[in-house]
Amino acid sequence: MEVVIVPTAADIGVVVADAVSALLARRADAVLGLATGSSPLPVYDELIRRCRSGSISFAHASAFLLDEYVGLPAGHPQSYREVIESAFTGRVDFAPGAVHGPDGNAADLSAAGADYEEAIIAARGIDLQLLGIGADGHIAFNEPGSSLGSTTRIKSLTSATREANARFFAHLDDVPHHVLTQGVGTILRARHLVLVAAGADKAAPVAAAVEGPVTSMVPASALQLHRHATIVVDESAAAQLRLADYYREAFAGKSVWQGL
Ligand code: F6R
Repeated sequence: MEVVIVPTAADIGVVVADAVSALLARRADAVLGLATGSSPLPVYDELIRRCRSGSISFAHASAFLLDEYVGLPAGHPQSYREVIESAFTGRVDFAPGAVHGPDGNAADLSAAGADYEEAIIAARGIDLQLLGIGADGHIAFNEPGSSLGSTTRIKSLTSATREANARFFAHLDDVPHHVLTQGVGTILRARHLVLVAAGADKAAPVAAAVEGPVTSMVPASALQLHRHATIVVDESAAAQLRLADYYREAFAGKSVWQGL
């Protein structure tokens, strides 16, 4: 596991966009895993800028979303399909049909979860999975207590996560209680995991995930089990890392060709 500490959230965008650009240069048909929420926005902004300047293209790439609310009607502005489309995928050159998400309106949500797993496998798996982290250590919508071997399935959100997400809805009551989310086990199958976090609110969950025990009580701690996991944080989100100086030295000592 590598921890990269940068001064600001905008710097997170550049460092992670460099990794995505390098991947696209190696494989134009890269399979990307996309997170919604605020944390990846600097990454998406930088990727949009690079795509518009012609230095990268997503024309042959595809993408899978981590999660989706259950029961929001298709086209609802807060459905993760719509959110990612307006924040990122609709502003770059993905081909029609290249962006996939769990079907939160399926009549049979268990079957929809199994179908999503199959679709990821059929696409030969995810090359680079972008992740945020919740205040309680969740990744995707795997709340504390989620099995570290879980696959895509329905989950109930905690009241804390619903309250955190209420900022995007008119009322707390409008935030769905259920989601269809990739499992921790699904996420661990991606070839490269890149978790991004910025701001003081993320300092405790980042420290628990990176330096605490591997436990289902902090689902992000499962990244410690992955052979290629990168945590990219700003100084505020790094504030509770005991080995912060070591992480800085190690990153400063890397050669450019090593990438993330
Ligand atoms: C969203 C997702 C969630 C968020 C997490 C952090 O697709 O998977 O795990 O990454 O809730 O959200 P932000 O980035 O808004 O703080």
